[in-house]
Amino acid sequence: MMDNQGSDIARTAPRVLLLGGTTEASQLARALAEAEVDAVFSYAGRTAAPVAQPLPTRVGGFGGVAGLRDWLQVQRITQVVDATHPFAAQMSSNAVHACAAAGVPLLAFERPAWQPQAGDRWQCVADIDGAVAALAPTPARVFLAIGRQNLLSFAPSAQCASHHYLLRLVDAVADLPLPSAQVVIARGPFTVEGDRALLQQHGITHLVAKNAGGSGAAAKLEAARLLGLPVILIDRPAVPARRMAATVEQVMAWLGHHGGAAGNAERGV
Ligand SMILES: NC(=O)c1ccc[n+]([C@@H]2O[C@H](COP(=O)([O-])OP(=O)(O)OC[C@H]3O[C@@H](n4cnc5c(N)ncnc54)[C@H](OP(=O)(O)O)[C@@H]3O)[C@@H](O)[C@H]2O)c1
Repeated sequence: MMDNQGSDIARTAPRVLLLGGTTEASQLARALAEAEVDAVFSYAGRTAAPVAQPLPTRVGGFGGVAGLRDWLQVQRITQVVDATHPFAAQMSSNAVHACAAAGVPLLAFERPAWQPQAGDRWQCVADIDGAVAALAPTPARVFLAIGRQNLLSFAPSAQCASHHYLLRLVDAVADLPLPSAQVVIARGPFTVEGDRALLQQHGITHLVAKNAGGSGAAAKLEAARLLGLPVILIDRPAVPARRMAATVEQVMAWLGHHGGAAGNAERGV
């Protein structure tokens, strides 16, 4: 009897999986730690030195939808918060399907997409291929602010001229697929003044970026506006419908905790 009661309590005790890799996830991790919520933080393991979290942390993929479903069950997870980057569509899609299969409620914590302002010279494109096509055909000096994935798409080809690229990455990359490229190693958030200076120093003529949202990564867009530079902005990939939250407070309320949160999600990587 006592054992049964104990195991029932253990099964229903709240235990949260937080899928991370963004500033929002780190903000939420602080709020969860302050509220003493039993939670596990998960990193994909893409960066050499990820930001330390005040929660127990695991690193690496789960093994697709089935792997995540099994992990949720073994770990007795009661709620999942997906605070991955808006372009981490595979992880977000897996979370939707795995949570449905395991019967675990899911909430996505995501900042709104950026919207154009007066003075912006944006060309919005659907995906990476659209950005490559938008750059051709004349050679340009491009700030390619898309991280290290998808760089190969911008290698010189019949469709893509030999542009010069400026890359800003968290970790150095060996064997860049771009013959004419300069790499700046830096981790956000960034400032408008800093990014304006960067664009000017490198004689940048075009900016290519993902519509990540948030303010920490928005400095380059404001800098481009101030300099009158054209921006090729890649739209967010589609993710299956799921419940959404835009602030730490909303997430904490969904988890049944009110007050004492770490503030709105305004910055972002
Ligand atoms: N994509 C971007 O532009 C971008 C920008 C900034 C930060 N990030 C962060 O970098 C990480 C990887 O992004 P991505 O675009 O490569 O993801 P993705 O393409 O959506 O995911 C690919 C695979 O990586 C694993 N994975 C991704 N996020 C994970 C997490 N938080 N915990 C455990 N496994 C994870 C999963 O492997 P399994 O299938 O094996 O489970 C997933 O299927 C994410 O955490 C994201 O928040 C991405």
